[in-house]
Amino acid sequence: MPLPSPFDAARAVVFDAYGTLFDVHSAVQRHAAAIGAEAASLSETWRHKQLEYSWVLSLAGRYAPFSALTAQALDYALAKHPGIDRSMRAPLLDAYRRLDPYPEVPAALGALRRAGLATAILSNGDPGMLDEAVRSASLGPLLDAVISVDPAGTFKTSPRAYALATDRLGLPAAAILFVSSNRWDVAGAAGQGFLPAWVNRTGQPDEYPDLPPLRVIDRLDALLHG
Ligand code: LAC
Repeated sequence: MPLPSPFDAARAVVFDAYGTLFDVHSAVQRHAAAIGAEAASLSETWRHKQLEYSWVLSLAGRYAPFSALTAQALDYALAKHPGIDRSMRAPLLDAYRRLDPYPEVPAALGALRRAGLATAILSNGDPGMLDEAVRSASLGPLLDAVISVDPAGTFKTSPRAYALATDRLGLPAAAILFVSSNRWDVAGAAGQGFLPAWVNRTGQPDEYPDLPPLRVIDRLDALLHG
């Protein structure tokens, strides 16, 4: 049973992990009371720096595991917020390894599989952190593949990162629906010929006009409806 247009050619659905399946802000939210009034700002800075480090290293032809960049980004975010107790570092990093999935994720993955599609993750996360995140959210039985960019030694939006998904699934990009809440990741996938969907949960303005998504949705289960 194919998906509704414009994804009726899709044979597999590949998801970004952090921010798309897993709520990256749930780590800070879990400790919000101990962190105090700057919790949301800390979380935004942490995420922003984590991504910036991945892009800067990739452009420089360098690589370090995403878990290391995540720790370095938290160190920067804590330094930017000197009012927050540094003893939060270890519990926050621990919480980041066991992030909450968005509530609709398990049912949406199950429905996509029942519709005959393979399901996979393609993430900047290194294999260890992805395994732990998938396991703690009990998503393993709902995924056919968990693909880390690690073997490519670079991050999205390098074409080499996206090629790991086509190689592993044995499908052309034109037969893979690529779903991300990160608009820059949607742009990267669109540039490689995937069928891209943007999960815009928080009403962000559109960008990358030359590399648009085929659909914009506000939650994952909308993929199943026309
Ligand atoms: C990922 C980052 C980009 O999961 O969120 O690949």
